[in-house]
Amino acid sequence: MVLPSVAFWVFDRTIRFTKLIRFGFPLATIKVVGEKEDITLKVTIPKPKNWNHFAGSFIWIQFLAPSSWWQSHPFTCIVERQDGDGDREEVIVLYCKVKEGVTEDLYKRLLTTPAKEGKIRVAVEGPYVDACQNFYNHNVTFIAGGSGIPGLYSEAKSLAQTKQRGLSRIIRLFWIVKNYESVGWFKNELASLEDLGVQVTIFVTRYKKVPCGTKEINAIDRLKATLPFVLFIERRPDLEEIINEDVKSPSVGFVACGHPRMVDEVRALVVQSLDLHPGQRLDFYELLQVWS
Ligand SMILES: Cc1cc2nc3c(=O)[nH]c(=O)nc-3n(C[C@H](O)[C@H](O)[C@H](O)COP(=O)(O)OP(=O)(O)OC[C@H]3O[C@@H](n4cnc5c(N)ncnc54)[C@H](O)[C@@H]3O)c2cc1C
Ligand SMILES: NC(=O)c1ccc[n+]([C@@H]2O[C@H](COP(=O)([O-])OP(=O)(O)OC[C@H]3O[C@@H](n4cnc5c(N)ncnc54)[C@H](OP(=O)(O)O)[C@@H]3O)[C@@H](O)[C@H]2O)c1
Repeated sequence: MVLPSVAFWVFDRTIRFTKLIRFGFPLATIKVVGEKEDITLKVTIPKPKNWNHFAGSFIWIQFLAPSSWWQSHPFTCIVERQDGDGDREEVIVLYCKVKEGVTEDLYKRLLTTPAKEGKIRVAVEGPYVDACQNFYNHNVTFIAGGSGIPGLYSEAKSLAQTKQRGLSRIIRLFWIVKNYESVGWFKNELASLEDLGVQVTIFVTRYKKVPCGTKEINAIDRLKATLPFVLFIERRPDLEEIINEDVKSPSVGFVACGHPRMVDEVRALVVQSLDLHPGQRLDFYELLQVWS
């Protein structure tokens, strides 16, 4: 029994190592983009031409610095076009919330640079895709909390682009953030959903009202002006209300990614709705993986 297990392990590692080598070890650009409680690093990596990406997929990345090269971390990836020297090049973009390990080390290094930006060589393995690539539902509701947004945004966008090819669906994207400052780093991506008809609602949970005319209010007004199609609500969402609103339609898919407690609540509410609406098709997908 030991030999087959070892053989399988070696086979698995060989494939992963081959993938790492094929990707190369490119220089990634890292920039600090978030503020306050949601300081985030935007990592931009040149995309190899033969590297196929799927909405909602993630990669394992190693930041090749002396203090962190042996750690491999999973992050959801988005593929974007960027102005290069000649053509518009494709890049892989990650948004990594600063926590207490490698992300904090990188953040502290960037603080010493004037533009809070730097370059680092990376090793990338993937992409890996989650199970919810095929939605069999009429309507789909995405519920993201904090740094859970990139994967759900990319799935919602891909689904909406499919919708333009003849299907008619209601796609709703809810994003729960602590402060208005937590939205700015992702506003360009959100803006790209306007023409695709995705209904976006942002819940801002920790906003404390400040007097009109202050710098903070002006910044909030500017943000809202860049996202006129987005509904902003200043409180935690009533998840039950969101789900009950949706189950009125005969077939709905719910996708959640964010704080584990929030994902648990959405899952429990969908299960409860299944009991209350036996004739309806309700599916639940979560993009919340744990790893050892
Ligand atoms: C599939 C998937 C996709 C994700 N996508 C995103 C995303 O798009 N954006 C986002 O912000 N977060 C995402 N996450 C969460 C993200 O992977 C973690 O927040 C990140 O790995 C935390 O790194 P950290 O070391 O800074 O944090 P901490 O969790 O604060 O680390 C605490 C300690 O544990 C050690 N440690 C932690 N992870 C490892 C490891 N892998 N190997 C060795 N030591 C480790 C650190 O060195 C540190 O000492 C995703 C998670 C999964 C599973
Ligand atoms: N694919 C993946 O597995 C993947 C990808 C990306 C991120 N993640 C994970 O997603 C989580 C996001 O963490 P974060 O630090 O960015 O955000 P966070 O601080 O956990 O929370 C973001 C927002 O969610 C709200 N919230 C928390 N619990 C809630 C609940 N039960 N009901 C309703 N709203 C709730 C918070 O409201 P309050 O201000 O009221 O607390 C806050 O506004 C992390 O655990 C991260 O590892 C996983």
